[in-house]
Order: sequence, then structure tokens, then C-alpha cells
Amino acid sequence: MSVQAEEEQAVMANVRGAGGEAAANGTADASIGRALGGLDSARLRDEYVNQGSFLYLSEFLPADATQRLIDAANALMPEVNRNFIPGHKAGGSVSRHTIDRLQPYIAELYRSPKLIAWLEKMTGDKLQLSPEDDPHAYALYYYTRAGDHIGWHYDTSYYDGRRYTVLLGVIDDSSCILDYELHTRDQNKADEPGAVQYPPGALVLFDGDKLRHRVTASREGEVRVSLTFEYVTNPNMRPWRRFISNMKDAIAYFGFRQVFRKALQSATGGARKTGERV
Ligand SMILES: [Fe+2]
Repeated sequence: MSVQAEEEQAVMANVRGAGGEAAANGTADASIGRALGGLDSARLRDEYVNQGSFLYLSEFLPADATQRLIDAANALMPEVNRNFIPGHKAGGSVSRHTIDRLQPYIAELYRSPKLIAWLEKMTGDKLQLSPEDDPHAYALYYYTRAGDHIGWHYDTSYYDGRRYTVLLGVIDDSSCILDYELHTRDQNKADEPGAVQYPPGALVLFDGDKLRHRVTASREGEVRVSLTFEYVTNPNMRPWRRFISNMKDAIAYFGFRQVFRKALQSATGGARKTGERV
């Protein structure tokens, strides 16, 4: 059996073990269904467009789904990879590879057909899952030490198509603020600054190449964990961009072992190269 097949089997065993048949049959998708039940999607689509491909919902996930994420984030604390880039960022990350191994509920949420269909409605794009060797496909970001932050940046797409970011609040016992600027890439509109301190269960959605953003520094004793989902419109990536993206992920987020593990498996014939399609 290939390494990939073994991992997939382990993930399914974890899903069944963690929550019985209910989990395997789409608890996450049902939660998303409840989340979407009370939303006026047509109005939110207008808001998303008017804000230059940005949307913030202070309440999105049902309480039980949020609690599962909080439990998962706490359980994954020992797996956090710390990183530090002087003048730009400090914090911790847990990649999709670790999530797959230990907290598959998050992967189930990421793949929720109801969530993806709603995101397609908001963005107006046909979305695909990020390839399985992309550690950002779903990842947790941890701010647990004084000064953890990330400076101004875009979530640049290294893919041939667009890259969308979804942020979900998980734990926020912090003073950290997501600062952003709308319309910075639109010559016909003035830049429009904004800020949110998104609480557990809140959702942020944006086109990575359009939203300039940062997260302000945490203080001593504060804890903040957010979950990110990444969807793309075209999962192809040119080799030199793949190299740049991998180096960035290894240094700034997940460490070389996490990022290059899949590439090494591919080189030895163990991993499937292409990503799943929605
Ligand atoms: Fe970002």
C-alpha cells in the first residue's frame, strides 16, 4: 500500500473513531448547513463585491462546530511549529498534513460541499480544493507569545488562478487585530482601511491578491488561534513558483520537514501528485 493510501486509511479510521458514523457522514457539512440557514446570501454577495472581494461575518459557525475547533486547536498545541522572520512575522503554525493525521474534523469542514457552494456564490468563481501537497490548504495559526504578529502582506497566489482565503476565529484571548485595506489594487477606488478582531466562530473571506492585511502583535499572556482555508480556481503551479512557495512556507510557517515531506514522497513514488477537485 502506498504511503498516501495508508494516510487516507488512517484519516478515515480517525474520523470513525472520533465521532462514529455521524462524523463520517458529514457532521461538518450539517453544521455548515445550519450556519448558512440564516444568511441573506444575495445581500452578502453584494457586500463582498462592494468591498473589493472581502467579507466579514462576526457570527458564522454554530457553537458546537466552534467548540470542536477549539478542542482541536488545544489538542494540536504540542504540534505547533514556531517561526520568526525579523521585522515581518512571529507565531506558530500547524499544517494540513498534521491536521489530517490528528484532527480530521477540520479537513471535513474544509471539504464541506455546502461551504464550497456558498463560497462559490460569494466569490462568483468555480472553486477547487488546494492540492494535497499545499500545507496552507487548511492550517492553524497560533499566537501564544508576546509579539506574535504578521506584517502587511497579500495572500499572493502562486497558482495559475486565483487563491481565496477563509479565516475562521477559533480562540481569541488576545488584543490582536486584523487590519486591512480594501481596493488597493483597484485604480478607480480610494483605499479603504478597516479592522476586525474576529471572535471564535467568525468568518473572514477574501481574494488573497486583493486584500492588503496584517495582524497586530499579541501581548504577554495572550492566546489567539485562527483557522485558515485556502481554495483556488486553478490548482496548477509552475515549477519555479512551486519552489518559491515551498521555500516561503518552510521558512515562514511549517518548517522544512512538513513542507518537503510530500515532495520527497513523490520523488520516491509514494504520493499522488495532483490535488483533489471539488
Ligand atoms: Fe494573510
